[in-house]
Amino acid sequence: MSGANLQVDEDGRLRHFLSIEGLNRGLLTEILDTAESFAGVTAQTVKKVPLLRGKTIVNLFFEASTRTRTTFELAAKRLSADVLNINVDASSATKGETLLDTLRNLEAMHVDMFVVRHAESGAAHFIARNVEPHVSVINAGDGRHAHPTQAMLDMFTIRRVKGPDFGRLRVAIVGDILHSRVARSQIHALNLLNTGEVRVVAPKTLTPIHVETLGVRPYHDLCEGIRDCDVVIMLRLQRERMQGALLPSEHEYYRLFGLTEERLSVAKPDVTVMHPGPINRGVEMDSRVADGPHSVILEQVTHGIAVRMAVMSMAMRQQDRTLEDGA
Ligand code: NCD
Repeated sequence: MSGANLQVDEDGRLRHFLSIEGLNRGLLTEILDTAESFAGVTAQTVKKVPLLRGKTIVNLFFEASTRTRTTFELAAKRLSADVLNINVDASSATKGETLLDTLRNLEAMHVDMFVVRHAESGAAHFIARNVEPHVSVINAGDGRHAHPTQAMLDMFTIRRVKGPDFGRLRVAIVGDILHSRVARSQIHALNLLNTGEVRVVAPKTLTPIHVETLGVRPYHDLCEGIRDCDVVIMLRLQRERMQGALLPSEHEYYRLFGLTEERLSVAKPDVTVMHPGPINRGVEMDSRVADGPHSVILEQVTHGIAVRMAVMSMAMRQQDRTLEDGA
């Protein structure tokens, strides 16, 4: 399920943003460059640009979220769109309405874009296949599959801190790789941007089988895995997605894989530490690292707004062309 044809039009322009797979380096760079131009807007006193004035964007969240939903909402508002937030858990799904019915009803209200988060892998692709041709779909996280805007805000953060040449970087992604949609999207994005070396560091039980086929080097020891790294990305233990006893205990996990200042000292002296949030302090990392001088965790949140503005405006630009062509 690459979504390649769904995501881009025949001229290679972004139509939906569903996964990093199926995109090319040029598009990723365009997203990063566009986000760079918006980063200034979000820092200004008057924070709005009129690019999406008159457009209606629905945040359709079937799964809880704070950071992702609020930064999508802020991004849409800064582009001057009207935004509706629909928490489907508390809405029609509980009354037995199907996903398709919910969609048709929202479309009848002339929605231009859906931002979708869902616990099932493939939900955003399903919606993209079923919307009217002028409607765009952005994946805000589907099951274990993909979280492409998170990966792009992480790439944006890395580029801002380390510069544009990913080829000289050694990046380690540490933690629950097996259940992480963020890890999957980051791996694809890092590889498309030609990152020098991408490592995944996790206990064997939390490492997907044949992970090397994704173009990464697996490690099962934290210090070996982060040694000489330029960037260390920590991930949350996804307890809600674990079935059975994959881990002895959180305490044991922290003893072996928790990032402390002492352990971090084996990485490059100017190492950058990242985490998509929410952080389990004292489980995957120590507070002194999370709040320390190498951490850019809060910058990641800020960058989420500019990156989401970029993706939304690029997809909508393409859809406006679709409307003009049909007129
Ligand atoms: C991530 C998610 O929801 O996939 N968080 C986020 O979007 N900020 C990672 C996580 O839940 O651990």
